[in-house]
Amino acid sequence: MTKHLTIVKHPLVQHKLTLMRQVDTPTAVFRQLLREISQLLAYEITSELDMTTKHINTPLQEMDAPVLAGKKLALISILRAGNGLLDGVLELIPSARVGFVGLYRDEKTLLPIQYYFKVPTELEDRIVITVDPMLATGNSSVAAIDLLKKAGANNIRFMCLLAAPEGVQRMKEAHPDVPIVTAAVDEKLNDHGYIVPGLGDAGDRMYGTK
Ligand code: URA
Repeated sequence: MTKHLTIVKHPLVQHKLTLMRQVDTPTAVFRQLLREISQLLAYEITSELDMTTKHINTPLQEMDAPVLAGKKLALISILRAGNGLLDGVLELIPSARVGFVGLYRDEKTLLPIQYYFKVPTELEDRIVITVDPMLATGNSSVAAIDLLKKAGANNIRFMCLLAAPEGVQRMKEAHPDVPIVTAAVDEKLNDHGYIVPGLGDAGDRMYGTK
């Protein structure tokens, strides 16, 4: 992908996002919507994957038909909210390898603390799609991508549902080589590091915690 930031303005994405923002949307509906949007975002983030052809037989005749070529995919979920995007993407790309980066946000400093890191082997030979619904300060995303690069990844994309301008800027400065695909860029971060208008805490809304 060549653009640093892609906002997916597809009507279905925008409609589903509005439903997710609403405070009275139940947990189960929120999770289902996130799964559905993740597949529409995955459509965009994979739209420039390399293709080749394969010689096949249809019931009627032979043909050279298009198939994916080149690098294999790895999906990396930033725990825990990343899992809400991961499930839907994995349904579309079932052969992708999957990794997890566990980071939590210190509520005072807003800085990410690592507690888990498990990723597929040969990351250097894979297209890595990192998923996390909320790109807020950008601290966790930047830290996760630092770790992935240290582990060998050199072709990374970042998929989120909502971004704050601050997070987009932070990613652009720290990782200009990592394209971002999102459904929207909201107005700003509030003093607690939440995206506004936003949708609240994505993990809490997915899992019904507080
Ligand atoms: N993480 C969330 O889940 N929501 C925000 O608004 C910011 C970070």
